[in-house]
Amino acid sequence: MSTFEFHTTKSIIVEPGAAANIASRVRALQCDSVLIVTDPGVLAAQLLDAALASFTQHNVKVSVYSDVLADPPESVIYAGVEAAQIANADCIIGFGGGSSMDVAKLIALLASGSQSLPEIYGVNQAEGPRLPLILVPTTAGTGSEVTAIAIVTTGENEKKGVVSPLLLPDIALLDASLTLGLPAAVTAATGIDAMVHAIEAYTSKRLKNPISDALAKDALRLLAANIHTACKHGKNIKARENMLLGACLAGMAFANAPVGGVHALAYPVGARFHVPHGLSNSLMLGPVLRFNMPNAETLYAELADVVYPAASGTSFRRANMLVEYLQNLPQELGIATRLKDVGITEGDIADLAADAMKQTRLLINNPREIQLADAATLYKEAL
Ligand SMILES: NC(=O)c1ccc[n+]([C@@H]2O[C@H](COP(=O)([O-])OP(=O)(O)OC[C@H]3O[C@@H](n4cnc5c(N)ncnc54)[C@H](O)[C@@H]3O)[C@@H](O)[C@H]2O)c1
Ligand SMILES: [Fe+2]
Repeated sequence: MSTFEFHTTKSIIVEPGAAANIASRVRALQCDSVLIVTDPGVLAAQLLDAALASFTQHNVKVSVYSDVLADPPESVIYAGVEAAQIANADCIIGFGGGSSMDVAKLIALLASGSQSLPEIYGVNQAEGPRLPLILVPTTAGTGSEVTAIAIVTTGENEKKGVVSPLLLPDIALLDASLTLGLPAAVTAATGIDAMVHAIEAYTSKRLKNPISDALAKDALRLLAANIHTACKHGKNIKARENMLLGACLAGMAFANAPVGGVHALAYPVGARFHVPHGLSNSLMLGPVLRFNMPNAETLYAELADVVYPAASGTSFRRANMLVEYLQNLPQELGIATRLKDVGITEGDIADLAADAMKQTRLLINNPREIQLADAATLYKEAL
């Protein structure tokens, strides 16, 4: 076996209703003044109510910063750092989807350290220290609660990442009851994002290892078995719990065996056209899987065995079953299936392809090399 490293969040708590007791977790971290970082949608859905009541009960001072935007721009992080400093926060809680969790990670790092945001872009540039950090996902998608990554939109339409082990929180708290009201379309898109994390981790050209493989397979098994129920019967707590766990396992996998071509081509779609992260991945998934087939057939066949345990036949046949399954999923779940559905036209392809080529951090992980002309063909196919 070749050597490898594997890192993840040190404390993962899976318990429906656990958010109602979050103040005791804060106390256990020796903190008594919390800043909750969230977005207006999460706030309006009243998901914070039980957590807020627990702070009053435990005499923990609490402030809420709820101005997070999807695909957060730098200004959202700067304002959040200021909110943490004004509140004198000694603990940060990211409460929401990937956008809120990513912003919380960066606030925890920047509010207590001496570095600026531009100084920490890239890999291992952050020096810390960071404030104690708890992450509570309310979408079953990004797995940000177990990844050492935070994504920021810089300027008009570019995305930059901060990658540092300091971004792994002290605690990830998985409370499926928070996801019961997640709208079907968001459940579908964020769930497909999680599936892409599992698939791209399993087929990653770099850093794939036996632990990430086991996690990716089990993640895909859970997600595939529950995504239809979670979309159709949102209040089914078992399906919601399995989705949340599946997304977390997929996050643990791709945090160590990084994602590739689907994400590389999805990022420009999200950045230029403000298409949500999950949906942009879903739109690019079919074409990239088909493109990768010559180099990833065996691995796709192994993943097909997870989705279809009774499948038989050659690896080519089973790999195609997986590709077909994923290709049909967006339509079955009732979300957009073509780039033109989100306002993209043929005239946009050259810019999208040029932007995708800048995602070298991701492209190097793809099982098959994607060049500029390939990227343009893939966008054309997705149109
Ligand atoms: N750090 C990482 O490892 C990582 C990985 C992938 C993506 N990302 C980033 O994560 C972001 C996307 O995160 P996301 O897909 O979770 O979406 P999101 O956080 O942008 O949330 C999407 C929408 O869903 C709403 N919402 C969230 N939970 C809800 C609930 N339970 N009930 C009702 N509404 C709810 C929000 O208010 C928001 O309007 C992007 O910025 C992306 O770049 C980060
Ligand atoms: Fe993703």
